[in-house]
Amino acid sequence: DETQKLRVALLNWYDINRRDLPWRRLNHEGSEEEVERRAYAVWVSEVMLQQTRVQTVISYYNRWMEKWPTIDKLAQASLEEVNEMWAGLGYYRRARFLLEGAKKIVAEEGRIPKVASLLRKIPGIGDYTAGAIASIAFKEVVPVVDGNVVRVIARLKAISANPKDSSTIKRFWKLAAQLVDPLRPGDFNQALMELGATVCTPVNPSCSLCPATESCHALSISRHDNSVAVTDYPIKVVK
Ligand code: ADE
Repeated sequence: DETQKLRVALLNWYDINRRDLPWRRLNHEGSEEEVERRAYAVWVSEVMLQQTRVQTVISYYNRWMEKWPTIDKLAQASLEEVNEMWAGLGYYRRARFLLEGAKKIVAEEGRIPKVASLLRKIPGIGDYTAGAIASIAFKEVVPVVDGNVVRVIARLKAISANPKDSSTIKRFWKLAAQLVDPLRPGDFNQALMELGATVCTPVNPSCSLCPATESCHALSISRHDNSVAVTDYPIKVVK
């Protein structure tokens, strides 16, 4: 059906076009220990990526993982060390939450929770980070919605509702949950984010390079109506 077609198109595109990023070089099968390392790596990278662009994050991520290669190592760090390592990334709360989360996990379960619902209970982990860790590291079939995903879905489904409204945000999470590929949830979520970051951009999207044009309502409307552009979705709201 339509959804399956979109999944296949996005995953094929992602397999060819994904950027080679350090946190994506993780061994994908493997022992409990490898899975745990992957979850920790995804956690660190996703928290860094929340307010900072990929190119900046890479060197910070590499230095962080060199200093604290495991969650147990991080749990032994001081807030001063962690802040020092974070210097220049901004929003220092994120670094403190990573440290507090690591301490809590090591003190309690000893392992990173494997499902989004439990990950959300860790300080600093919200719906976004929980979904990213659960789907990318543990293959739980849960969605991830960030600004890029909102834009891609708003265009695919031609959604004109205010993307800042909490009811609209709920709608995006629901749609993303229906779309996510049940066999490759982590790759699918990253494909959506990657498409938004590199092709389905806020201005001048590269529709000619997009693997999802056949599923894109905004594009189809814009082709039939000269007064509509793909970039009209999501609608722009003044704060
Ligand atoms: N932005 C934040 N996390 C990302 C990821 N895992 N892949 C692509 N873009 C992202």
